[in-house]
Amino acid sequence: MLKDLILKNRSYRRFDQSVLVPMQHLREWVDAARLSGSARNMQPLRYMLFNNAPDCEKIFPTLAWAGYMKDWPGPDEGERPSAYMVQLGDLDLTNDWWCDDGIAAQSILLSAVEQGYGGCIIGSVQRERLRDILDIPDQYKIIQVLALGKPAEEVVIDEVVKGDIKYWRDEKGIHHVPKRGLDELIVNFKG
Ligand SMILES: Cc1cc2nc3c(=O)[nH]c(=O)nc-3n(C[C@H](O)[C@H](O)[C@H](O)COP(=O)(O)O)c2cc1C
Repeated sequence: MLKDLILKNRSYRRFDQSVLVPMQHLREWVDAARLSGSARNMQPLRYMLFNNAPDCEKIFPTLAWAGYMKDWPGPDEGERPSAYMVQLGDLDLTNDWWCDDGIAAQSILLSAVEQGYGGCIIGSVQRERLRDILDIPDQYKIIQVLALGKPAEEVVIDEVVKGDIKYWRDEKGIHHVPKRGLDELIVNFKG
């Protein structure tokens, strides 16, 4: 069921780094993004794919993890992503991709989860540093990075209590993500 996949598709930030993500998988997941909606059908997004340790080591320090968890610097060696996708926008086509990037990211992550992998969208990226490291031409804007691998953490969904939406990790290492209730999301301003 799609809902089960959506439920399983949490933001995973700790992985079994020893499990590699085959390039063929990464390509299939981009294919799911390729087939997704695109504003004006412009299809301006591009992807750089990485699944080897030396590249992953270069990309990792440019990313920021779990902003609410101030005392956690991010995944340790051994639990880091074993693959990345760098999502780019081709400025020669347009500088406005509306919400294509999010739709595509969700298609990629759902595909990954369906195959037993998982990941996290990383919007907090040192973009100029990453551009230099990967030799990305100015024609392409770095939109976000998808960190991918074999998840090695449990993530559960909680209810939002007293408006607190900050995710947190308990003493057993379980990551908790508060979600607002359905009745808070569905609004009606009539009478
Ligand atoms: C556009 C976007 C950017 C994000 N950027 C980051 C990020 O830079 N670092 C990070 O650790 N998580 C990032 N996340 C993950 C969110 O923190 C996560 O989606 C949120 O905590 C809810 O958890 P869930 O994805 O399991 O529902 C991002 C998510 C989205 C959708």
